[in-house]
Amino acid sequence: MTLSSETHSLFKATESRRSIYQLNDKTPISKDDIIKIVEHSIKYTPSSFNSQTTRAVVLFGDDHKALWELTAEEVKKVAPGDFAPTQAKIDGFAAGAGTVLFFEDQSIVKSLQERFSLYADNFPVWSEQTDGMVTYAVWTDLSVEGVGANLQHYNPLIDGRVAEKWNIPSDWLLRSQLIFGGIDAEAGEKDFMPVDERVLTFGA
Ligand SMILES: Cc1cc2nc3c(=O)[nH]c(=O)nc-3n(C[C@H](O)[C@H](O)[C@H](O)COP(=O)(O)O)c2cc1C
Repeated sequence: MTLSSETHSLFKATESRRSIYQLNDKTPISKDDIIKIVEHSIKYTPSSFNSQTTRAVVLFGDDHKALWELTAEEVKKVAPGDFAPTQAKIDGFAAGAGTVLFFEDQSIVKSLQERFSLYADNFPVWSEQTDGMVTYAVWTDLSVEGVGANLQHYNPLIDGRVAEKWNIPSDWLLRSQLIFGGIDAEAGEKDFMPVDERVLTFGA
């Protein structure tokens, strides 16, 4: 039996997701549809013990710009030497249409550690894995709709400023920033290791 057309569509979606760094603020889909994608991904992505630890904050317009302004301020405090290249990079993020901030709710992680002490060491790891899966789902769904995105990690440097500005609950730990927008330049070629060196198969 050959793979179904639905699977081929999923394969195409997987392949379409790339890191797009040259973004503009004009997305081919509406703000409401972007929010729908974030909500759908966060709802249907699995989590250990169905703990649903991932949280997201979606910033558009002035709020998106404010995020990258405060990020530049915080990076400047710790970056030695010429700040111009870093400022240019951050300006590139600000040029996009918005940012999804991903968090993991540590109050749930802690309560699971207390309730299931046998797995105490695993819950923070599973929380990170869930965060990665939600991020991937959002990133892939956006790419299917022609919205470009790239993933950044200015946490923990910006955690305090972000919490203050958007009144983030103290248990929400910032994990990443997914910047999205219209695509000004497609991603370049990407190298792939031979898949048969990465996937081993045994049995009939
Ligand atoms: C867990 C994870 C963390 C990443 N962190 C960053 C990052 O901090 N900054 C960045 O520019 N790209 C980051 N990336 C993007 C990767 O560099 C990129 O996905 C990889 O080179 C493959 O390219 P592609 O996304 O175009 O397929 C990250 C990707 C993953 C999966």
